[in-house]
Amino acid sequence: MAQKLPEAYAWLSDDIKDVLFSADAIQQRVNELGAAISRDYAGRNPLLVGVLKGVVFFMADLLRAISVPVEVDFIAVSSYTPEARAQGIVKLAKDLETPLAGRHVLFVEDVIDTGLTLSYLLRNLRARQPASLEVCALFDKPAHRLINIPVKYKGFDLPDHFVVGYGLDYQERYRNLPFVGVLRAQALT
Ligand code: PRP
Repeated sequence: MAQKLPEAYAWLSDDIKDVLFSADAIQQRVNELGAAISRDYAGRNPLLVGVLKGVVFFMADLLRAISVPVEVDFIAVSSYTPEARAQGIVKLAKDLETPLAGRHVLFVEDVIDTGLTLSYLLRNLRARQPASLEVCALFDKPAHRLINIPVKYKGFDLPDHFVVGYGLDYQERYRNLPFVGVLRAQALT
């Protein structure tokens, strides 16, 4: 259920309509995901792979909610052209430093929208022959999905609104909010 902005963020009320997920609700769900991952990956030393930049907030909290040995690495993508991006073709702007062969890899995303980016990256990572490859996404926008992707660990479904916070941005702003809120149409320029 939508909530009001915390008092310290009242100055954002022209931009943000409602809080969809409070900082506490997010932390609780992240802890649940961390506990499930800790159970499933015990003894397997998983490698968590994140795609920059939005995921860094979720990744930092998820790692601290995992109680078994774990490693982390990041990949970054950029678009050749908007048309290429719309077809799910992205350029690797920064590759992983860790070889994946034989590793139990958990791909971590802040949000899955169309699924095109993830689909492209999963194909790329699968070609490196990991022992296993699963997906953990904090937020999912099923209304926008163009490609079906099995998500083993999922935090929350998002409604079809423009949302920001906890890593999600609009023109690079709002990532640092500890909660997720709905951006007002007037803030979209
Ligand atoms: C977001 C998110 C995914 C992608 C999902 O990244 O982190 O990588 O979009 O969209 P898709 O399912 O439609 O492909 P974004 O391009 O916003 O970059 P950012 O993480 O730097 O904000």
